[in-house]
Amino acid sequence: MQMVEYAVETFDLTKIFESKENGVKRYIKAVDHVNIKVKQGEFFGLLGPNGAGKTTLIKMLCTIILPTEGTAKVNGYDIIKEPYKVRSSFGWFHGETGGRSLYWRLSAEDNLKFYAYLQNVPKDVAERRISALLEFFGLTKERKKLVKDYSTGMKVRVMLARALLHNPPILFMDEPTIGLDTISAVETRQLLKALNVELGKNRDFHKPQYV
Ligand SMILES: Nc1ncnc2c1ncn2[C@@H]1O[C@H](COP(=O)(O)OP(=O)(O)OP(=O)(O)O)[C@@H](O)[C@H]1O
Ligand SMILES: [Mg+2]
Repeated sequence: MQMVEYAVETFDLTKIFESKENGVKRYIKAVDHVNIKVKQGEFFGLLGPNGAGKTTLIKMLCTIILPTEGTAKVNGYDIIKEPYKVRSSFGWFHGETGGRSLYWRLSAEDNLKFYAYLQNVPKDVAERRISALLEFFGLTKERKKLVKDYSTGMKVRVMLARALLHNPPILFMDEPTIGLDTISAVETRQLLKALNVELGKNRDFHKPQYV
């Protein structure tokens, strides 16, 4: 893993969407020359009203969409020139009501095994890391239970574990507490703070002290 001062650095990052309404072209400046620097280990929050451009900014950093102008570095890699290196540098958590992106007829453990396989995590590493993540997120007892029988908050925890399977140095989250009740939202925020502290102490979830 390369060590860089900034986990994320943007350079006049801009996105203009083009759309047509009744044959007339419209331009929406969703992200306008944004320059931010996020240090390694920093917990960085992006706030703004609906439509401010938060999701668009994250999508560019995740290399899902290309900027119209400017660029950014994620873990030191350029989002335009080195998208594959960028993609292996982050975990992505997209808040969704009800954990629709999980396989409901699989257990939490089997969901995580499947996604670890997609991330090319070797089987033995995956098994240790999945156990450590389930333990951290308080799901060890229910690891064999089908996701369809999980509460919304539990599904959020499985999705967070999924985002960390390949041990990424950066975690992008878009509305992680959406759909959660007040208590679960507070619990999730506390969990994320604890996660940041844990990962600061020990970058890898599969190291012996976590097994
Ligand atoms: N694919 C697209 N095509 C056209 N316009 C888009 C597209 N995606 C987003 N926009 C527009 O870009 C602007 C920013 O949207 P974005 O989803 O980034 O906002 P947001 O800050 O994430 O909002 P929210 O808090 O509602 O999630 C909005 O005006 C939106 O309508
Ligand atoms: Mg959004």
